[in-house]
Amino acid sequence: MKITVNTLHKLAAEGQKITMLTCYDASFASLLDEAGVEILLVGDSLGPVMQGIDSTLPVSEDEMAYHIRCVARGAKNALILGDMTFGAYQQSPQQAFAHAARLLQAGAHMVKLEGGAYMAETTRFLVERGVPVCSHIGLTPQFVNAFGGYRVQGRGDDGQRVLNDAKALAEAGASLIVMECVPAALAKEITETVNVPTIGIGAGVDTSGQVLVLHDMLGVYPGKKAKFVKNFMEEAGSIQGAVQAYIKAVKDKTFPSAEHTY
Ligand code: KIV
Repeated sequence: MKITVNTLHKLAAEGQKITMLTCYDASFASLLDEAGVEILLVGDSLGPVMQGIDSTLPVSEDEMAYHIRCVARGAKNALILGDMTFGAYQQSPQQAFAHAARLLQAGAHMVKLEGGAYMAETTRFLVERGVPVCSHIGLTPQFVNAFGGYRVQGRGDDGQRVLNDAKALAEAGASLIVMECVPAALAKEITETVNVPTIGIGAGVDTSGQVLVLHDMLGVYPGKKAKFVKNFMEEAGSIQGAVQAYIKAVKDKTFPSAEHTY
């Protein structure tokens, strides 16, 4: 069955968890699609993971379009989510639309953009022109220089800011909200407040679904391992087994557990 924006809203309304993994090529797209992963995120994590660079900032529009085309060839049913790349959408809603159009023409079904309430105008502009948008709030990796590192966001009084971001983006028409590295209690409050499915990464178990970077959950990324990462290959005999274990753990809410949560 083809996964659409409507499927995601239905799953969330029924309390069924949504699974998302990053994906950058046709072979993995086919494997993840067959396993039943609902969303394949062609993330700008392809910089660190595929290119060996130390942040997502240098990933280009052309590189993103290239990897989306590869994933689109391998996936039959999954919804393909493409990351908007740093510098290609922040200037104006018009710049964002031109970038989003390229990603949709390459095969993405939805685009993801980082940033809080100030991205509401751009979100509305894209949505009104037929581009489904996934907002990315909390720890937004393109802000690594501004944050002074990859740090948990929304702790204590700062939680109100992240909640306000989620509300503004939901109101602007976002179809999905990714929350990265925020306290579990805040992620739960946001999920209960906004009428949009939420996907967590380091955001506890009470979001509408979960995402991990594929190479992290397979234990093959050589870089630093974040607290929220679980290596599903350790107990599985194969890549297919690890992906099935991830899907099962997300669906039955055993991942993430307390040890993967802030
Ligand atoms: O690029 C990426 O992989 C992401 C995830 C961390 C959500 O944005």
